[in-house]
Amino acid sequence: IGHIDDVQELTKVRPTTVPERYVRNMAERPTVPTFSSPSQSLDIPVIDLSKLVQGGDDEAARRELMKLAASCEEWGFFQVINHGIDKDLLERIEKVATDFFMLPLEEKQKYPMAPGTIQGYGHAFVFSEDQKLDWCNMLALGVEPHYIRNPKLWPTNPAKFSETLEMYSTKVRKLCQTLLRFIAMTLGLNQDTFNDMFGVSVQAVRMNYYPPCSRPDLVLGLSPHSDGSALTVLQQGLGSSVGLQILKDNTWVPVQPVTNALVINIGDTMEVLTNGKYKSVEHRAVTHKEKDRLSIVTFYAPSYEIELGPLPELVDDNHPCLYRTYYHGEYNRHYVTNKLQGKKKTLEFAKIQT
Ligand code: SIN
Ligand code: FE2
Repeated sequence: IGHIDDVQELTKVRPTTVPERYVRNMAERPTVPTFSSPSQSLDIPVIDLSKLVQGGDDEAARRELMKLAASCEEWGFFQVINHGIDKDLLERIEKVATDFFMLPLEEKQKYPMAPGTIQGYGHAFVFSEDQKLDWCNMLALGVEPHYIRNPKLWPTNPAKFSETLEMYSTKVRKLCQTLLRFIAMTLGLNQDTFNDMFGVSVQAVRMNYYPPCSRPDLVLGLSPHSDGSALTVLQQGLGSSVGLQILKDNTWVPVQPVTNALVINIGDTMEVLTNGKYKSVEHRAVTHKEKDRLSIVTFYAPSYEIELGPLPELVDDNHPCLYRTYYHGEYNRHYVTNKLQGKKKTLEFAKIQT
């Protein structure tokens, strides 16, 4: 990686210049914020997991479950509070991630992302010289099961990195399994449906660092895409700028950080399994003129050898089958070998051609 390919180095060396490689075509540029006044702003739903977990026939639990169903159907995104992951652990993972990104380039380059893979430090999803680059530095790692790990790419600096990621990932994994139980319930399915189906599920993490950009109007922090996962868990850095935007009714809606909340989104896999009832929503990240931003993103997905398709319970005369059956491993290969390009490109793979 040269200076021009690493946005942190770039902002150090030439703080007011945006090289051509990062300047988006007109149509792709983030425009002025869609919602300017607070009264107009539209926030993604907030789910209180403690209300669901206490559960039973309690009225509050029933209401929360309905809210979860509506979030998955109408937004494909929600924030979860009282999720059971200690504030202390959220702070510790944020600290090791930040410390990693603040290391000198030479140190980070000890973990280089090989072309065509999404593991290590570098630009993911880049396949050609003329492709625009995201204003973002990324560290991506396979976590579970162990065979997807590349231990050489797990940073030994900062010293507590691996240990903290290990602890964090265990907690996030439990959270995903809990959420999948409640999501199954919202669909009238046996609560173990997804967890039983997924086998030894695959978990990967991506840490994104977005330095400030002198021209946030010209660049994107992360290209528009939908996630290939079943569920994604996103932690936003405490002091971070607002950067994540989701596409709702053709409008980019910013996701306002909620203290100690985690952002959850439905990935392509859940959209297929629910036959389109629950939506994998397109999203992107934008940058900020003065502030940087950190996000820690966990992707949770079925085992690669699991065959997936719309659940028979969600297909009927009024809801014709929209997606074919395929192995999750095939889908994953398709996802990682194509650039991030909105939602259509990824889910096209699974669409039944009519
Ligand atoms: C992502 O979609 O992977 C991350 C977006 C963000 O940084 O908020
Ligand atoms: Fe994403």
